[in-house]
Amino acid sequence: MKILICISFLTLYASLKGALSDTVCQARGSGAIVCVCNDTYCDTVTREPPIIGAYNTYTTSESGLRFSKTGGTLNPYNNLTQCGTTLVIEPSVRHQTIEGFGGAVTDAAGIHWKSLSQNLQNHLIESYFSRNGLEYNMIRVPIGGSDFSTHPYAYNEFPENDATLSNFTLAKEDYQYKIPLIKSAMSATKKQIHIVATTWSPPPWMKTNNRYSGISRLKPEYFQTYADYHLKFIQKYADEGIPVWAITTTNEPLSGMLGLDSFNTLGWTQDQMAKWIINNLGPTIRNSTHKNTKILAVDDQRISIPYWFNYMVAKNPKTLDYIDGIAVHYYTDFITPAYILTEVSKAFPDKFILATEACEGSFPWQKNKVELGSWTRAANYINDIITDLNHNVVGWIDWNLCLDVNGGPNWAKNFVDSPIIVFPENGEFVKQPMFYAIGHFSKFIPRGSVRIKVHERKRIFSKSIENVAFLTPYGTIVAVLYNRGNRASVKIKIRTKEIVLELLAKSISTVEFPYKT
Ligand SMILES: *[C@@H]1O[C@H](CO)[C@@H](O)[C@H](O)[C@H]1NC(C)=O
Ligand SMILES: *[C@@H]1O[C@H](CO)[C@@H](O)[C@H](O)[C@H]1NC(C)=O
Ligand SMILES: *[C@@H]1O[C@H](CO)[C@@H](O)[C@H](O)[C@H]1NC(C)=O
Ligand SMILES: *[C@@H]1O[C@H](CO)[C@@H](O)[C@H](O)[C@H]1NC(C)=O
Repeated sequence: MKILICISFLTLYASLKGALSDTVCQARGSGAIVCVCNDTYCDTVTREPPIIGAYNTYTTSESGLRFSKTGGTLNPYNNLTQCGTTLVIEPSVRHQTIEGFGGAVTDAAGIHWKSLSQNLQNHLIESYFSRNGLEYNMIRVPIGGSDFSTHPYAYNEFPENDATLSNFTLAKEDYQYKIPLIKSAMSATKKQIHIVATTWSPPPWMKTNNRYSGISRLKPEYFQTYADYHLKFIQKYADEGIPVWAITTTNEPLSGMLGLDSFNTLGWTQDQMAKWIINNLGPTIRNSTHKNTKILAVDDQRISIPYWFNYMVAKNPKTLDYIDGIAVHYYTDFITPAYILTEVSKAFPDKFILATEACEGSFPWQKNKVELGSWTRAANYINDIITDLNHNVVGWIDWNLCLDVNGGPNWAKNFVDSPIIVFPENGEFVKQPMFYAIGHFSKFIPRGSVRIKVHERKRIFSKSIENVAFLTPYGTIVAVLYNRGNRASVKIKIRTKEIVLELLAKSISTVEFPYKT
């Protein structure tokens, strides 16, 4: 009997000298590790340009690695070495083009960012947006208040019943927190940051229940006013030098339709929403100087695609003339099959799907709103991002960029977790495993990357490795591999070459190598 041995050609090589320029994670905790940033210290990660014939890997693990760099050379493919799982990359089979990754500039995030010293403010911005950080290129921003505000508010609250919005001005939260944070992010990167803006609730006088929360609808006499409300916001932000790339058609319309949540909402039936898009929002935006601003429908849980979106467009196909994409949220993903995403993108090939909100700590069974250093929460993010990307989603936007250790402030007490938790009283903020989880995608899959096929060849008993791969505008192939189990050997096959990797237990690795092999 011939015994096939898996030979691992892991060779550390010289080009990784550059890794010395990174500042390593200052770890705190045992088991559940966070990385601590203070006035004078904050970990960084730079992308190493790959060399033909070689690959670079970046690994983050439950055991404590954070973007740990290694690399090696591509070798001729050898089908006799048995390495458990083989991932065959097929760069000629192409899928969706990536728009980007990012987080949300809520009032809560802005308040905490502003509470930090100037150095820490810079560290936080650099950590997310710069070349030494996660290279985020998207931001979601609430139009007016959300639950992550200290109080509910909207623009033009007074005078009431003001159909022409004669008193539309931005709020102090825009001037003090959101605009400065966004501008700081914009100046930390050469990349264009695409901003997605969303209304949670308009001023109560536009609503049937005259309140910020509870079951409500838009009063019919204010359909055009609510469309103008969006255009005025886009104009005000443009005046501040902040282009709005997309708006959504209201945050989580089902919440306000069914009264599911205690925070700012506006309910919409499918037919009313279709009428508003076709008669008001669509023409208002498309006839304006901001006609290129994209309009994203749904902005609600994945599960609302079959039950809400499909119904809306089937009965009102003209909505498709105005809708550029579909925005989806995270919170029912664990019970909603992802093929819903593939099906809707096949049914409407000219519409893209963007994940616009996700957070951990929000589920009723999660007792700890913030769970410092949780690997489980990072793993949930990783699993969700890989699944979304493999089902044609073009980008993934996290919720609050930072929060405090209570998971707030949130006027409706809807506290949750965040990748960065601030401790201004200690002159610190900490980066959680979730921060690195998103970074394994955001940093290495730039806008314009195209997803390519990966075919997994498993031997009996070998492990399945969650994976997704892209062709990037840098002329490289990037594969992200997630090993949820014990240590595993994996072979990546690309044309006639192979890369053999030993994946640590509970780890995520991003592998990058030139497209030309
Ligand atoms: C900041 O963190 C670094 C690294 O842990 C440490 O050496 C330094 O003393 C800290 N500075 C302050 C002011 O705590
Ligand atoms: C290995 O490759 C050779 C040459 O391409 C082929 O003939 C053989 O069937 C392959 N073996 C396996 C186990 O795939
Ligand atoms: C206009 O809005 C401001 C708050 O932004 C409010 O103080 C003022 O009373 C409003 N004006 C009128 C005429 O209602
Ligand atoms: C733009 O406005 C004009 C005049 O108000 C109207 O006739 C036209 O239908 C509008 N265009 C769109 C795309 O709605």
